[in-house]
Amino acid sequence: MFLAKNIAKNIAKSCIANLPQRWNPDSGGRQDSMKHRAPSLLERGIRLPLGGYELHLQLRGRPKADTKKAPKKEPKAAPKAAPKKVLEKQFDPSRHQAPFRMHIGPGQHWQKPTAHWIAVDVDPERGDLVIDFNDFTRFPLPDASVVAIYGSHVFEHMSVYATPLVFRECRRILQPGGVLRLILPDAEKSLREYVAGNASFSLFARRRARALQRYGIEYTLFECMREDFLSRSGQKVLGKEALAHQNAWDFETIVADLTRAGFSRVERSAFQGSSNDEFRFEGTYPSEANESDRSLYVEAS
Ligand SMILES: C[S@@+](CC[C@H](N)C(=O)[O-])C[C@H]1O[C@@H](n2cnc3c(N)ncnc32)[C@H](O)[C@@H]1O
Repeated sequence: MFLAKNIAKNIAKSCIANLPQRWNPDSGGRQDSMKHRAPSLLERGIRLPLGGYELHLQLRGRPKADTKKAPKKEPKAAPKAAPKKVLEKQFDPSRHQAPFRMHIGPGQHWQKPTAHWIAVDVDPERGDLVIDFNDFTRFPLPDASVVAIYGSHVFEHMSVYATPLVFRECRRILQPGGVLRLILPDAEKSLREYVAGNASFSLFARRRARALQRYGIEYTLFECMREDFLSRSGQKVLGKEALAHQNAWDFETIVADLTRAGFSRVERSAFQGSSNDEFRFEGTYPSEANESDRSLYVEAS
């Protein structure tokens, strides 16, 4: 009781002593400007002698919520936009002479033999008709308006979901008797070379050298073979991390796929082995079609 009384007395005394000095005696009783005012009671707190100690009471406001805006987080870099997929609207069939011929994925060296030919590619610099076959619905061409379709080392760039539709569309736009000529990586050949452990197979040696140069890694024999089925694209227009090869065939399987798409005749062919004059350009310019030791040549109608 005595201690409590003593504390209360001391608090009262201290409060009086600590009253804020609103009036500055040196200024003749004028109210001190806020700038020079003594720190307030709240600011100073109260000091109470307590035995041999001093009790310091100070009211502190709750720390204000930090109203400063946190620096805006840099938005995560959006994945590199893949190109607008189907740009068929820009395609003007009237600039091509009917009946049409179509070259799918011509690459950069092919020269159009006549105005009948329509180049189709995901790369606008290569295609009259710019299409990403992995986001494809249909060719903007009427049924039976095309007499020949050529595609060398391009169908394996389309997913297993895409190719059935692409083959059906090829069938739809081809005239009866029109020919689809495909040159594909010969997956069976690669598998045989892999099983035989043939690291000197020219395709494997090339892939090994390229992996070393591009990615700084030593490819195993399996990785050399795997690129027939799965490989990185690196083609800017497709965006980062796009796949290049994502489908593969042996002869039996391409026959099955093309038959399912509505073709009634599917035959094995050879380099420059077409009886159809439309494809006479084969072998006349740098193309993967020229690599006969690793390509599968097929014609369907
Ligand atoms: C490996 S190159 C083959 C070029 C040439 N036909 C040859 O035999 O050398 C593949 C071609 O298909 C095109 N291509 C790749 N992926 C594609 C896709 N998803 N849709 C449409 N074209 C694609 C490329 O731009 C390129 O012209």
